[in-house]
Amino acid sequence: MHETATRTLTVPEAIQTRRSIRAYEQKPIPREDLDEILRLTSLAPSAFNIQPWRFIVVTDPELKERVKEAAYGQRQIGSAPAVIVLYSDMEDMMEHPREVVHPGMSEQQKDAAVQTLKDSYGKLSVAERALVGVAQANIALGYLLVAAQGLGYATSPMLGFDRDKMREVLGLKDHVRFASIVAIGRAAEEGFPHHRHELDRIVTYK
Ligand SMILES: Cc1cc2nc3c(=O)[nH]c(=O)nc-3n(C[C@H](O)[C@H](O)[C@H](O)COP(=O)(O)O)c2cc1C
Repeated sequence: MHETATRTLTVPEAIQTRRSIRAYEQKPIPREDLDEILRLTSLAPSAFNIQPWRFIVVTDPELKERVKEAAYGQRQIGSAPAVIVLYSDMEDMMEHPREVVHPGMSEQQKDAAVQTLKDSYGKLSVAERALVGVAQANIALGYLLVAAQGLGYATSPMLGFDRDKMREVLGLKDHVRFASIVAIGRAAEEGFPHHRHELDRIVTYK
């Protein structure tokens, strides 16, 4: 991590202290910090290890302004030094299935694994595949929020935006699905205290 990073948090500390933050310090995020957050995020698990998540890191002020417009002017986008767009692209994965097969396999095992992917997902429609993709990308979203927090950065995930407009602004194809756009930076506010269900409302032991 870059020397400006605060001490790293444990996973429970990162989860406990993370809140959606909508006001940020006005300073750029060092590239190596963004790379580390995204590296950790990319370690998220996915079905068959398909890793359909893709990221666009928006720091260019003009493009960020257009992203903000597509997101109904949400103020955290204007305030944050960067916005990470997290989407899934299952068609990209389907075109390059061998990329996600483990390199430790023999060529024969790799061929079989590629065939399994083709059999499993090839029979689905593009729309059905997109649902599978976004389910995986949502796992990466959780990792991203916790990884950023753990390394001293605050975030604000957002799904409040016009999907078609956002695709147009970012030059993305129709089949991609957004998991979230995530404002990121050093926090300049505390955010709201957690308000969550008590466990007995949401957990059943059997
Ligand atoms: C997928 C997702 C989409 C969200 N979309 C928005 C949004 O468009 N605008 C916003 O201000 N907050 C958005 N939020 C933030 C939630 O309101 C927030 O996570 C929730 O109220 C819990 O608060 P906390 O994040 O501070 O713990 C979103 C959160 C998630 C996970």
